[in-house]
Amino acid sequence: MTAPLVAGNWKMNTTVQEGIALATAIRDAVGKPGGVEVAILPPFTHLWPVHDVLEGSGILLGAQDVFWETSGAYTGEISPTMLAGWCDLALVGHSERRHLLGETDAQVGRKFLCAVSSGLRVIVAVGETESERDSGTTFAVVDRQLDAALAPFESPPAAESFVIAYEPVWAIGTGRTASPEQAQEVCRHIKEHLAAGFAITGVRVLYGGSVTADNAAVLFAEADIDGALVGGASLNSDKFAAIVGAAATSSPPAR
Ligand code: PGA
Repeated sequence: MTAPLVAGNWKMNTTVQEGIALATAIRDAVGKPGGVEVAILPPFTHLWPVHDVLEGSGILLGAQDVFWETSGAYTGEISPTMLAGWCDLALVGHSERRHLLGETDAQVGRKFLCAVSSGLRVIVAVGETESERDSGTTFAVVDRQLDAALAPFESPPAAESFVIAYEPVWAIGTGRTASPEQAQEVCRHIKEHLAAGFAITGVRVLYGGSVTADNAAVLFAEADIDGALVGGASLNSDKFAAIVGAAATSSPPAR
């Protein structure tokens, strides 16, 4: 099976100059990690200079979002074809976009299709709110988000072209990490759902939500957690490198 993926989502943080310095520090702290894929997702304004910083490092570059058309009258949007060829990844469906900006399940699906069709690898983020978890609908919410994300595809995308990030909304930026058991249960369910509903197997499923250097190892030890989408801790090169190190040493060997 493929290596775990540790992706750092900087969100709307750092100036361009600070971002170049952070990317340089991450590159130097991470080194050449054996057996782990590493990606950083800076703001759009930083992508081009950070691409130069990462050249030859093996660290992947990703965008935090992307639009669902390849060109046209869409003021302020960035299309996948603008990124393809020099950016490796695009994230779609992050909960901050769903919940703060009103992005719908259907829009996430259109973005996913357009990005994959343009040659980007895609991280599709899904996850339940606290009230959805409390009312016992976690699996139903995640299934609905997955089904909508895959709905625009005529035939299922290749397993290598995307990863799913399971990010419980109540754990993002709150310091309240899901327990390894809670995260494992949903990550396994996601794999079962993709296999049963779409005959897709071998997709990596990441956990995201207050991942730190201290809790990463126990999460990565779970059988169906294939890496992490890291927010806050990805803004510190040493903490991020420690999470990458935990992925290199703590992932189950049978993956
Ligand atoms: P966090 O963010 O690590 O700061 O909780 C994770 C994410 O939103 O991807």
